[in-house]
Amino acid sequence: MSRTSRRTHRCGELRAEYVGQRVRLGGWVHRRRDLGGIVFIDLRDRAGIVQVAVGPSAPEDVRRAAAGLSGETVVELEGEVVARPGNMRNPELATGEVEVHPSKLVVVGPAVTPAIPVARGKGEELPAEELRLKYRHLDLRRSEMQANLILRHRLLQRARRTLAELEFLEIETPILTKPTPEGARDYVVPSRVHPGEFYALPQSPQIYKQLLMVAGFDRYFQIARCFRDEDLRNDRQPEFTQIDLEASFIGVEDVLGFVEAVLVALWDEAGQRVARPFPRITWREAMERYGTDKPDLRYELAIADWTAQVGPLGVPFFDSALKNGARVRGLAVKGGAALSRKDVDQLAETAKQLGGSGLAWVKRQGEQISGSVGKHFTAAALGALGVGDGDVALLAVGPDRLTSPVLDRVRREVIRRLGAKPTAAHAFAWVVDFPLFEPDPESGKPVFAHHPFTSPHPDDLAGGKLDSDPFACRALHYDAVYNGNELGSGSIRIIDPAVQRRIFALLGLAPADAEARFGFLLHGLQAGAPPHGGFAIGFDRVVMLLADAGSLRDVIAFPKTTAARALFEGAPAPANPADLRALHIKVER
Ligand code: AMO
Repeated sequence: MSRTSRRTHRCGELRAEYVGQRVRLGGWVHRRRDLGGIVFIDLRDRAGIVQVAVGPSAPEDVRRAAAGLSGETVVELEGEVVARPGNMRNPELATGEVEVHPSKLVVVGPAVTPAIPVARGKGEELPAEELRLKYRHLDLRRSEMQANLILRHRLLQRARRTLAELEFLEIETPILTKPTPEGARDYVVPSRVHPGEFYALPQSPQIYKQLLMVAGFDRYFQIARCFRDEDLRNDRQPEFTQIDLEASFIGVEDVLGFVEAVLVALWDEAGQRVARPFPRITWREAMERYGTDKPDLRYELAIADWTAQVGPLGVPFFDSALKNGARVRGLAVKGGAALSRKDVDQLAETAKQLGGSGLAWVKRQGEQISGSVGKHFTAAALGALGVGDGDVALLAVGPDRLTSPVLDRVRREVIRRLGAKPTAAHAFAWVVDFPLFEPDPESGKPVFAHHPFTSPHPDDLAGGKLDSDPFACRALHYDAVYNGNELGSGSIRIIDPAVQRRIFALLGLAPADAEARFGFLLHGLQAGAPPHGGFAIGFDRVVMLLADAGSLRDVIAFPKTTAARALFEGAPAPANPADLRALHIKVER
């Protein structure tokens, strides 16, 4: 299949069984070593590297061409595949048993000196990421990046196949659209023909996929590009890809089943066998035991409520907070005495930075009890908390909204610093029963936890909680988590237009605004909507985890920096003044 009119094989495909064959190859000069009488060229293409040897018996023009070759030049050659002598074999190279002796060799793509090296010695550091992104065409030639993008391709094909087999239809939805609220800012695109009007790039295909259900397509999926103007991190990009799906006449179980089938297939494609069904944990339990809605369940260490045991000990540091109704929560870290004073101080500092009141600690080593609040504890009191000899108790006091993020972070740090052994390699889980609303950190008013189309839990809807206590109202919203990462989210949707209008109202949207922004959805729901729900898998994150890459940027061909810049092509950039005039746009700085 690699054969074309110009080559017979890819470089990296040659093996001992090809010995004696004449081949035509094309590729990049990875390295060249001139040993005087003989020149060795490592020729590279997407399949790998093969050694080309140009010795004294090679034709004169080939020897001349080989002598002048510089790194990253593209050459085409024709020659014989020859077995390497036993002592010259390279077991680290898939093609290491053979080499090619060319009778023709032509430079077809001369290359200037590469701005960053492609070939790297063992242990040699990568160039700075800024340079890698600026000279992405060179960076992408590295075997790691080639492997990541080839894995990405395979995962994408597998996702498509799996969903098509489950009778999902692949349907594309618009990129020039109206705002879809997913909690970020929109990227907007000005309309030239309608001065002063703007499209929004989709934060997700959410409303369209619901309308496809209203239209009767029953099961939809899309490999959907989404755009969100939000603070970026290693696991967030302004444009990213979702495996987006939606299905009709389903309940929660069906959606979780579809998503598990896709995730298990993706892990299988990467050579990892994982079992389903995934365990489930409620949002409340996840927050209580792990302080986060994306717990890393490979580790048993869990947060406990120690208010009842620690309250009566009269620790001054805790007392005033306890009087205000706060709780003492903590981690009993087995073997935690191995944490140094510096470790504990750094953990306490992290806790402070997260807005908590810090972190108290008690260490138990034999008879000795030490730590910031150690003098208030006896061995028996520690025993009641599950803290034995050689362990440490880490305690945080305050409202849950502060202690949860602190203890989540401390838990992850402690696991890292102690090099704790995971109980499993893969810990998938469903987090279910999320709250429908969260309080806005500034105003305290309800904002949606997922998006405004998520159905309230039927028990809470029937019980009238939507009006009496909206923050206690649960949602039919589920997240898939894996080893502490959120892989994706989904929900069962509201299909009753009256409920949808009430949710808009609770979110502070006047009826006219709701109509202007979401009228097209409301009209759809009035036209006969089937029960439906769906999910979106963050595909880049999946590839990052399966490729064992440290950042999304390593699994996206042309990503943006954390400052949302594309360094390779140089975007964003000022627009041409004539274009701005045509778009009726004046830029104020
Ligand atoms: P949500 O907003 O949770 O749900 O997105 C689904 C998944 O997409 C990934 N993701 C991102 N990946 C990279 N960069 C980003 N900036 C980014 N933002 C999100 C995450 C996330 O879990 N319409 C709903 C889905 C639904 O209800 O069906 C949605 O978009 O892995």
